[in-house]
Amino acid sequence: MLLAASTQRTVGMVILAIVFIGFVVYLFFSLRGAKPEVGSEIVLAPNRRVDDVPDEVLETRRLDRSLGAALAMLTVIGVALPLYWLGEPGRQENRVAGFDRTFTSRGERLYTEGAQCVNCHGPEGVGGVVSTTLTDDSGGFIAQVNWKAPALNTVMSRYSEDEIRYVLNYGRNGVMPAWGAPGGGPLTVQQIDEIIHYLRSIQIPEDEIRAEADAGLRAGVAELLKSERPELADADAATVDAAVDDWLAEVEAVRARADQMAVDADPSIAGDDRAVRAAALELLSDGKVPGNELYWQYGHLLFDNTAGQGAFGCARCHTFGWSYDATTDGPDDVDGHPGPLLDEYVPGGGFFGPNLTNGVTRRVFDTAISHADFITEGQTIGKPYGRGGDGGNGQMPGFGPRTDDDLGVTWPGLLTDDQIDAIVAFERSL
Ligand code: HEC
Ligand code: HEC
Repeated sequence: MLLAASTQRTVGMVILAIVFIGFVVYLFFSLRGAKPEVGSEIVLAPNRRVDDVPDEVLETRRLDRSLGAALAMLTVIGVALPLYWLGEPGRQENRVAGFDRTFTSRGERLYTEGAQCVNCHGPEGVGGVVSTTLTDDSGGFIAQVNWKAPALNTVMSRYSEDEIRYVLNYGRNGVMPAWGAPGGGPLTVQQIDEIIHYLRSIQIPEDEIRAEADAGLRAGVAELLKSERPELADADAATVDAAVDDWLAEVEAVRARADQMAVDADPSIAGDDRAVRAAALELLSDGKVPGNELYWQYGHLLFDNTAGQGAFGCARCHTFGWSYDATTDGPDDVDGHPGPLLDEYVPGGGFFGPNLTNGVTRRVFDTAISHADFITEGQTIGKPYGRGGDGGNGQMPGFGPRTDDDLGVTWPGLLTDDQIDAIVAFERSL
């Protein structure tokens, strides 16, 4: 914008210089070419005879008025035109902002009415569910399930706008419909753009992201502790909360121990945060730290985080059946299926995203820290990763902060570095 404004000024100055030079040239030639009026030497025109008709008679008020009007017009042109020119960049900015508002409000209408995203993704993108029918390969009925539709009020942190455009155009897994023309959907390119403008406007700030992710994680820890310690099952909320706090403090202690072990093994890395992180993460991935199992459990809970209908976690794409609670038995008259659909999940066994078990992630990523970097950034369309990975359509989200250069915005990360590390250690243990 600054560049545009200064270009505008430069062009303005050049035009001004051209006009000025032109005027001087004009003056020069018209003075040089000025000749005495033809016939003037014979007889003077009446208005030039001093003693014939007085000026007062010739110079009527009408002449004053037209001269005055001409002067006023000249002033307007002389003053207003440069002013108009100088104000142009600001006007363009306002125009862009106005355009933005129009797009956002049209996108909102599409979200809530036109395309009914709200029915599945909830008001303002808080997340929701869609009731859908699972069928087998030949189209036979398996069950009626509630499929989690992830929160979209954090989607700008996960994906670039092109990556979002891809899901909107083509849909996903038959449950997220294809909306854009390329995928055979009803919306135009501009309408998809309008929806993206609206999505930008509903993103929640970092403190809310942290709070939501933490709430989901704590719910997971509470459930785990209740299954391990029957006495907690009927305990009041404060008791459960305290137990969760203790558990998380133990996890933190394991992490601190790993950092210490890393520095003890190689004192030269002390003070280099990234080197300590990388070395500690290797130890934690290999199960070499006392209390390591707890750290993996923590990573698993983050992997399975249910907050925002799975928006903060990994299981919805990497664990088959997780998105529709396949291990939970629903009422048979509603889901049409006796018993649960699965006896148990295969964590990270693969679904929309690839299978991460049997050491896959160790083969793809030589080091734990490069694995962590991938989770932080996610896939980028056209950019290779690890050993044999490519950017594809960019559908593996990034969980660290993401900067949109075009908008000049950095969207906050969904997970902290510590949380990403725990998930990495867990995945490398699979
Ligand atoms: C019929 C229900 C339904 C409707 C309507 C719907 N979606 Fe979805 N959408 C889903 C489901 C379910 C998923 C997750 C798919 C999966 O788990 O594979 C999803 C995924 C997405 C994703 C990917 C998010 C992520 O983090 O993975 C985006 C973006 C999205 N939808 C946006 C929209 C927008 C915008 C609209 C309206 C134009 C819309 N959806 C309409 C059900 C729906
Ligand atoms: C919206 C779906 C989605 C979510 C959520 C998701 N992933 Fe992925 N993941 C993918 C896709 C798609 C790929 C790449 C598939 C390809 O191109 O081969 C991928 C690839 C990966 C890979 C590389 C594996 C390989 O063999 O190339 C790792 C590791 C991974 N994901 C970990 C995670 C972790 C950890 C999380 C949660 C913090 C997560 N994923 C969340 C969809 C997802």
